[in-house]
Amino acid sequence: MSDNQPVTVVITGASGSIYGVRLIENLLEAGKGVNLLISDPGFIVLEEEMGISWKGDELSVNQLVREYFNTDKELIYFDNSNYFSPLASGSSGRGTMVIAPCSMGTIGRIASGISANLIERAADVVLKEKGNLVLLPRETPLNAIHLENMLMLSRMGARIVPAMPGFYHKPQTMDDLINFVVGKLLDQIGIEHDLVKKWGAEASATE
Ligand SMILES: Cc1cc2nc3c(=O)[nH]c(=O)nc-3n(C[C@H](O)[C@H](O)[C@H](O)COP(=O)(O)O)c2cc1C
Repeated sequence: MSDNQPVTVVITGASGSIYGVRLIENLLEAGKGVNLLISDPGFIVLEEEMGISWKGDELSVNQLVREYFNTDKELIYFDNSNYFSPLASGSSGRGTMVIAPCSMGTIGRIASGISANLIERAADVVLKEKGNLVLLPRETPLNAIHLENMLMLSRMGARIVPAMPGFYHKPQTMDDLINFVVGKLLDQIGIEHDLVKKWGAEASATE
């Protein structure tokens, strides 16, 4: 990713808030700015799975997330009702947006073009401007509605990166599994990382 535009990271109410949190850590480490959006169920799952409680108005949550990630200005949180955010309009550029984790509800609403909150509107904008929309769906098993919605979004150019770690890199810890999935997200938006060894890297190093 050559431009210096921030990446929009969205945490929805699917299981796996850690994917969004780990993604933000890696983006900040790579020197990328981050625009952060969180759905109401996203806050609930963050608290349930990670014990993270980011409550309050837009200003308070901004302070809390900047403290959590130990950063100052590269990270901006937008309330999900803030249509005055630049993310609500195509005039701010095509955009790169990663929804991690992405609930089936959010997938369905994006696929239907509902745009009833900033997350849905911002995703709609990225699709209409032919930017880079990356979705990390988390549900199992998947029903035909989930599959059809993902197919529709994939045909529109969204990248579907399911939370499906591989095991060929011989993961030893939960971190290894999380990093594998987050590495796949970073690959889709062109951010260099060393979260997981590239397949064949050892073989070519010994050639
Ligand atoms: C602890 C917890 C885990 C959940 N896990 C999932 C999940 O993995 N996938 C999913 O699609 N929904 C999951 N849900 C349900 C969603 O949060 C719910 O459908 C919500 O309306 C999604 O809203 P959002 O898309 O605006 O975040 C979970 C809910 C809770 C409380």
